[in-house]
Amino acid sequence: MGNTPDSPYYADVSPGRGTLPPRAWYARSDARRLILDGSWHFRLSPTAEAHDASFAGDGFDPGTDPGWHTVTVPGHWVLQGHGAPAYTNTRYPFPVDPPHVPDENPTGDHRRVFDLPADWPGGGGCVLRFDGVESCARVWLNGQELGDFQGSRLPHEFEVGRLLRPRGNVLAVRVHQWSAGSYLEDQDMWWLPGIFRTVALLHRPQGSVADFTVHSAYDHRDGHGVLRVLSEPGGRVSVPGLGLELETGATARVPVEPWTAETPRLYDATLTTGGESVPFRIGFRTVAVEDGVLRANGRRLLFRGVNRHEFHPETGRTLDEETMRRDVVLMKQHNINAVRTSHCPPHPAFLDLCDELGLWVIDECDLETHGFTHVDWRGNPVDDERWTPALLDRARRMVERDKNHPSVVIWSLGNECGSGSGLTAMARWIRSRDPSRPIHYENDYAYPDSDLHSRMYASHAEVEEIGRREGPAKPFILCEYAHAMGNGPGGLSEYQRLFEAYERCQGGFVWEWNDHGLLRHTEEGQPYFAYGGDFGEEVHDGNFVCDGLVFPDRTPSPGLVEYKKVIEPVRLTGDGAAGTVRVANLHDFADLTHLSLEWSYEVDGEAVGAGTLPLPAVPAGGSAELALPAPPSTDRHGEAMWTLRAVLAGDTSWAPGGHLVAWAQLPAPAPARGRDETGRGVAPHRDGQRLTLGPAVFDAATGALTRLGAVPVRGLRLDVWRAPTDNDEGAPWVPGSGPGAAWRELGLHRMRHRVDAVETDGEALAVHSRIAPAASDLALRTVYRWSWAGGERDPLRLIVTVEPEGEWDCPLPRLGVRLELPAAYDQVRWFGGGPGEAYPDTRAASVVGRWASGVDAMQTPYVRPQENGARADVRWTELHDGTGAGLRVDAGEDHFWLTARRWTDEALDAATHTPDLVPGDTVHVHLDHAQHGIGSASCGPGVLPQHRLAAGPARFSFTLSALDTAGDGEAVIRP
Ligand code: GAL
Repeated sequence: MGNTPDSPYYADVSPGRGTLPPRAWYARSDARRLILDGSWHFRLSPTAEAHDASFAGDGFDPGTDPGWHTVTVPGHWVLQGHGAPAYTNTRYPFPVDPPHVPDENPTGDHRRVFDLPADWPGGGGCVLRFDGVESCARVWLNGQELGDFQGSRLPHEFEVGRLLRPRGNVLAVRVHQWSAGSYLEDQDMWWLPGIFRTVALLHRPQGSVADFTVHSAYDHRDGHGVLRVLSEPGGRVSVPGLGLELETGATARVPVEPWTAETPRLYDATLTTGGESVPFRIGFRTVAVEDGVLRANGRRLLFRGVNRHEFHPETGRTLDEETMRRDVVLMKQHNINAVRTSHCPPHPAFLDLCDELGLWVIDECDLETHGFTHVDWRGNPVDDERWTPALLDRARRMVERDKNHPSVVIWSLGNECGSGSGLTAMARWIRSRDPSRPIHYENDYAYPDSDLHSRMYASHAEVEEIGRREGPAKPFILCEYAHAMGNGPGGLSEYQRLFEAYERCQGGFVWEWNDHGLLRHTEEGQPYFAYGGDFGEEVHDGNFVCDGLVFPDRTPSPGLVEYKKVIEPVRLTGDGAAGTVRVANLHDFADLTHLSLEWSYEVDGEAVGAGTLPLPAVPAGGSAELALPAPPSTDRHGEAMWTLRAVLAGDTSWAPGGHLVAWAQLPAPAPARGRDETGRGVAPHRDGQRLTLGPAVFDAATGALTRLGAVPVRGLRLDVWRAPTDNDEGAPWVPGSGPGAAWRELGLHRMRHRVDAVETDGEALAVHSRIAPAASDLALRTVYRWSWAGGERDPLRLIVTVEPEGEWDCPLPRLGVRLELPAAYDQVRWFGGGPGEAYPDTRAASVVGRWASGVDAMQTPYVRPQENGARADVRWTELHDGTGAGLRVDAGEDHFWLTARRWTDEALDAATHTPDLVPGDTVHVHLDHAQHGIGSASCGPGVLPQHRLAAGPARFSFTLSALDTAGDGEAVIRP
């Protein structure tokens, strides 16, 4: 490898030419600025050298050239009708031959003519700033070349004062999709070239701030903040909220309220130099690793984190401030307290929001070379000194830009680059420039360039082993865990218990925040989200780009709702029978004065009393025991339960008062209501081709239920198949990581049902069946036993017994019955877990109550369709047509899992995008005795043993009745 003497600048390992040294980024100042965003002229060329630089000069007129169009800056040209986006996870979409790039190097020439405002000040200088350009840019102003740069998600500035004229300035930017820098930017996301962040012209008056650094530590032993602001040139700092006026370079020590993610106290300040006045905000906090534990302001931190890539389904990595704020607000509302900016520095305005609303940030450098894993890491830039200047440039640009954010508590060198001297050089430089923050890099615990021991996707067992290990150690975090691809992730609760049990296990960051599906429309205009392979890429990684806790449009997924519950900062436990509740404050800093505790007392899911309990100011880490009120008197009988909800006592900057933070349900003793059957059992009656049993009609030859009262029923039979989730399918590079392949191999999606006998006896109809796939001698011997007690209001009872034959060594996807109802029965009420979906290892957020929904709204629209929508712990359900007519199912011995949809599991399995799912004339209902867990095997550990559904002898039962009037009471919908 290496540069040949005539290597073009875009294939040069050096970071570029002509830019100014990096410095702190700030959005506000009294110096003038001109934002150059908007419509720019644009020409796309298939190669880097297709055109000379004449477009940069005054004489060029793109308006008359048919090769020129317009694009919006900031933006990616591939999302504006020019070329196409491409997705790969680790593979470079070009031959690996660093630092060379392919001849096919889409190149976008951008041109914009601008005037200076009439009152633009004279004197001083002017800086042209690019906040983000992917992946390499060469820049001209008024025909003069300014230089070129690489480092896509980092700012680059040029001094341009001498070149500006009042009117008709020509700014020309040539952007190459591929450059030497692309080898350093192999993050798992779309390849999206373009000027994707703001371009601005900044006036720099004489004596303006070249750069400034805010040191604002907090001494938790005496509650003092220690402030020192350095500036070039020097000036004065005022902090009115602290009554402070001081020279830059001087140190002030004053009592302050500290900044934490839970209590993000900021003090407004102003830096004034001879030429500029810059407002900024100070947060006092100190982070340190002490005795192997990461602490902020003296207290152990527990990260309840997410990895966040910048993404918008229409604009890619161009994010408006509203979207950034929405991310932070959604995170706060879901109890998330930390973000890793995977795997590059975000738009700096995002960090302002983290300061303001309170999130701990691991700020990660724009660096990943994962694709070298496919060539045994030969030529890895982080282990080749020729690249070290580029790596140091990236480290500097991140640290200098973001150094004044209190939310940034850890610098991360990058992601998945293996190891090498370049990383060591970066760590050494960062340590010397900013000793106040620890450094992160994911690797083994002895890795010298990281102050943390960080791993990704470690299993629960490995985390436990790390937690138990004796002797000196670094703080341990999971910088990535719980792969949120499709349905899942499972196993979050079990991780959280480990983080709480072991001091050195300081939490983790779920992979990842956002599905990166791109909004597209079918020919009929139906919207859907596209993923890898949808744009004709020759190598791609499919829907692996859709692995977030929020859907592409930022609708929270069930995974986010689950995560919120698992990481709730208050744990409510207790004994509903004894009337006590224990409130454990799991915050790291805050007491509980910002919350109030609401209770309700429910019988069979209906509230019969509600109120508020006074919540003592339990300090962080403490707990208190409270007495519940006496249960409200009621003449209702049934299952009684306390529901406790810790809610915000007042409005905050991220949620209104009343917002739910934590909750629990405690069973309470109450007289149970028996659904006594009145009759004594009657025999089935044969009538030609039909068998009748009370209200039920069966096919005499097959034993199939065909009608219950007025309700036609079809296809009721045992079912073990589910459309495999991404986590069932597992990771393509880890053979055997999910059971999906084994399920298909075995043929669980094509089971054959043979009826061996339809027997009637004095009390029941017994249908004996053998269910098995072709080419196998494994089978499930199944008996459906139908009975009816004979009373007019008695339901039809079904007992299913299952006996496996042969050696089943893979788990079953599910075990239950499915049945078909007419499409009109598309309204569902149920008493059980809700409102959203749940599976055995994703059920923490399932609230027992009475719920109502249309079938359509019970679907979770995963970007790649897959099993979804099960409701847990269902006691009864009614599927009705809106007038009250329909089918009611009551649980027998055990609660059941309820799923209803307008297509079969086979159709769900075959679908690749949401428009493939077309409603038919049937509602397909699953009543499951058991479900296999979800796990996280799409990029991590599979289902824990306790959530595995092994094939074994089973017995389960339901009762069924036809409804011809409104059922058992009005359903209640709660948030
Ligand atoms: C990690 C990687 C992430 C992402 C994730 C899987 O190995 O750091 O960028 O690829 O796996 O989605």
